[in-house]
Amino acid sequence: MPAKQFMVKRMKIFITGATGRLGGALKRHYVTRHAVVAPTRAELDLSKPDEVAEIVRGIDFDLLINCAGMISPDECERDPLGALRVNAESPAAIAAECQRRGARMIHISTDYVFGGEGDSALSEDSPAQPINAYGRSKLAGEQAVLAASSKALVARVSWLFGAVVPSFPDQALAQAIAGKEVSAIADKWSVPTIVDDVATWLEHVFTQYPETTGILHVCNSGEATWHSYAEATLAIAYEFGLLKALPTVQMQRLEDFPNFFAKRPRYTTMSNARLAGLLGEPPRLWQEALRDCVRCSRLSV
Ligand SMILES: NC(=O)c1ccc[n+]([C@@H]2O[C@H](COP(=O)([O-])OP(=O)(O)OC[C@H]3O[C@@H](n4cnc5c(N)ncnc54)[C@H](OP(=O)(O)O)[C@@H]3O)[C@@H](O)[C@H]2O)c1
Repeated sequence: MPAKQFMVKRMKIFITGATGRLGGALKRHYVTRHAVVAPTRAELDLSKPDEVAEIVRGIDFDLLINCAGMISPDECERDPLGALRVNAESPAAIAAECQRRGARMIHISTDYVFGGEGDSALSEDSPAQPINAYGRSKLAGEQAVLAASSKALVARVSWLFGAVVPSFPDQALAQAIAGKEVSAIADKWSVPTIVDDVATWLEHVFTQYPETTGILHVCNSGEATWHSYAEATLAIAYEFGLLKALPTVQMQRLEDFPNFFAKRPRYTTMSNARLAGLLGEPPRLWQEALRDCVRCSRLSV
């Protein structure tokens, strides 16, 4: 079963990063039931923290969802100060403006705030020990947003995919359809998460439990490696007739990628128990969400 739809009260929602994978999905989902304003990067540039508060001040909204971010670990590693500006300093300025006017803010963060050394699902209380500049900038953003706004919620997501903006399943499927070898890392774990479910769950939280603050892990259930994620994608595509044969996915290891500029955490699977409590049921498994996504794929042999 996909994430449930809930009765909602119409709100004025400000979404940053709406040209991206997650922000775009939130905009598509909310625009029919809410008044959505979604400025582009040209209109609201988070690399200029000194300017964002004034721009945000000029816009009327009840809730701001900050999906914009510098999300490439390698780009953040090359420009850690730029990453801090976009992922921490501007979100802090936005949170302060939300606090000033009594508006709510949901700030999107990441499983990369974790160091990756463990092997059991991480809760919102597990210690965050980022090992790269991206994770450090996102953790700094979480802390600054929560310090600036008493009504803020930090929503950590992981391994996002969806039917509109291409992501890992599309790449794996495109490789297979082109008859190329498909290979993926088998010693790195997290939870693939479909952006459409994130949109539905967040709407449930901000309409039914608007007092929710602090940190919330927002992900589908289960756990994957990139390798099992690729295998599941191709198996579903084969079942739906998108592939004539089911290729074997070759296993790679993190150490096969010495050219990654930023270190990648090995194990960042998040527990979604707090989210399950708010929804009244566990989020569906990532494999079920992936079926919906592959079924809608525009790729085929
Ligand atoms: N993708 C994942 O698997 C993943 C995993 C964990 C956490 N997250 C978090 O989820 C959030 C959304 O990720 P996503 O996958 O949707 O990213 P995305 O597809 O790369 O979209 C990023 C968005 O941020 C905007 N942006 C980038 N720099 C900006 C700036 N300086 N000022 C204003 N806007 C800027 C981009 O605008 P342009 O179109 O102009 O570039 C785009 O709309 C991020 O906070 C990320 O850290 C993502």
